Amino acid sequence: MTAHDDATGTNGREAYLGRVFDIRDRHVLVTGAASGLGQAIAEAMVDAGAVVTLVDRDADPLRELADRLAGRSGTVEHALCDVADASAVRATVEAATARFGGLDVAFVNAGIAGAPRTDDESRRLERVQLDDWERVIGVNLTGALNTMRAAAAVMRPRRSGRIVVTASTAGLRADPMVGYPYVASKAAIVNVVRQAALDLAPDQIRVNAIAPGPFRTNIGGKRPRSAEAEATWARTIPLGRMADPEEIKGLALLLASPASSFMTGAVFPVDGGALALSHTI
Ligand SMILES: NC(=O)c1ccc[n+]([C@@H]2O[C@H](COP(=O)([O-])OP(=O)(O)OC[C@H]3O[C@@H](n4cnc5c(N)ncnc54)[C@H](O)[C@@H]3O)[C@@H](O)[C@H]2O)c1
Repeated sequence: MTAHDDATGTNGREAYLGRVFDIRDRHVLVTGAASGLGQAIAEAMVDAGAVVTLVDRDADPLRELADRLAGRSGTVEHALCDVADASAVRATVEAATARFGGLDVAFVNAGIAGAPRTDDESRRLERVQLDDWERVIGVNLTGALNTMRAAAAVMRPRRSGRIVVTASTAGLRADPMVGYPYVASKAAIVNVVRQAALDLAPDQIRVNAIAPGPFRTNIGGKRPRSAEAEATWARTIPLGRMADPEEIKGLALLLASPASSFMTGAVFPVDGGALALSHTI
């Protein structure tokens, strides 16, 4: 044991970490909570002692998750809502805020990938389908905007809050693994985050984006791809692998807690070094 350990001791260290990352009894709302990254974020919040509202449009997995998390620390509610429906989002956020006396953190995470990536041909510019474009923009961009607006409306009068948007590395550079609607939606939401950070800063509401690289979720592809595709990943990701949803939890906790008190308008990659690599080529 060092002199430093003696001075702070295990209790001192735990108290310090508990204070810096304290979100106990804070009300956190997570959209797209029924699966993948949203589920991992919700788990992290519940385990850290937050009061959590889970929001998704997929009823069965949403209820199953709420039941599972209810057995852990924290209070868990769930609400069925399609984020593409502005009035439904507003009603959901207002009801959750009224239930818990405020909203401290909103994770704006619900998203879709767009038309299945059947072949390279379907990802050509000439083959972009406008119905797919509108569907993806409707959820990933307009749906995120709907959620951010509803959260801002209840946070601004209290002059406090955090909004964390799940963007993507595909919003920061071209990406051969996804389609045009997806990159357009994610690039646009990154700048909406910056604009909202500017707008909401005078009211002490912080707005940041997470930019995940490839995670093993429904969108990211849970099963390993062909050996050739896996080899491509290995070349484009310095850490040489896809991520597990668990690996989003640390950043989510950072951005939800006082540990990030001077961070706003920023985009945080969680990508195994992929962006660093693409910036050096
Ligand atoms: N997995 C990755 O590799 C990756 C990489 C970068 C960004 N992202 C982003 O992460 C976020 C979460 O995706 P994921 O990977 O966990 O995928 P996922 O498919 O496992 O989870 C997405 C969740 O969002 C919900 N959802 C979709 N549309 C909705 C709507 N209109 N209203 C309410 N809920 C809706 C789904 O029901 C699902 O529960 C998305 O915004 C996605 O674009 C994922």
